[in-house]
Amino acid sequence: MEDSLKIEFEKLKKVLVGESSTSDFLQRLTERFPNEVVFSTSFSYEDQVITHLIKDLNIEIFTLDTGRLFGQTYDTWTSTNAFFQKKVKAYYPDANELKEFVTENGPNSFYQSIEKRKTCCNIRKLHPLRKALQGYKVWITGLRSEHSANRQNIPQFEWDPDNKIIKYHPILHWTSEQVIAYVKAHYLPYNPLHNLGFVSIGCEPCTRAVKEGEDFRAGRWWWEDASKKECGLHIHQ
Ligand code: ADX
Ligand code: SF4
Repeated sequence: MEDSLKIEFEKLKKVLVGESSTSDFLQRLTERFPNEVVFSTSFSYEDQVITHLIKDLNIEIFTLDTGRLFGQTYDTWTSTNAFFQKKVKAYYPDANELKEFVTENGPNSFYQSIEKRKTCCNIRKLHPLRKALQGYKVWITGLRSEHSANRQNIPQFEWDPDNKIIKYHPILHWTSEQVIAYVKAHYLPYNPLHNLGFVSIGCEPCTRAVKEGEDFRAGRWWWEDASKKECGLHIHQ
């Protein structure tokens, strides 16, 4: 199964090169993998663009509700459902796993050590992600290369050995200007935190706005060493 998916992946890479537009390629993808393509959204500018690009395609959309998201993100989720007339599927951390971790360490232990921060991300994001991806063969994300040095050289199509799935980043090479122009041109709902200097938006206690000239991901886990700042959803060494 894994081997045949990898062969399929190699074929798809060739198709991608020849396809005229992102929309056409997305369409091809759903024809090749009916009911097996899934998109994860955090309701960022990027994710709103992709939600619009796939609005008429048979692609399920899910979000990982960590329980620690900004109020504005929940509002954007609500307006996204209404705007697109879709129901974004919600995934949650395992209640027992979370209960034990928070009882033992308190609610904000992610500030105490990288280890605790990673455990929190594992419980609130990675374990639910594993469930969300089950049964799918292609996972679409809103990753963009401009967002960090780690993401600069990643391929638009990649094999995720942990989740055993093909990952596809349709707007990897778009610039921020292109993304924002698309959101505005289509009057898409977006997270109002973007207007306040928030570029990459995750959990509320672990995200702050960035200043002019700062790295896009400077606002994520800002108290940690820059090289360690990935939660594990997307690992690119
Ligand atoms: S992260 O690895 O730092 O958390 P980032 O915020 O850059 O990721 O978002 C990149 C992509 O990861 C998003 O476009 C989306 O596809 C996915 N993603 C991030 N956070 C979530 C979430 N809470 N729920 C679903 N998908 C998410
Ligand atoms: Fe926990 Fe912060 Fe990771 Fe969210 S980003 S899961 S609050 S450590």
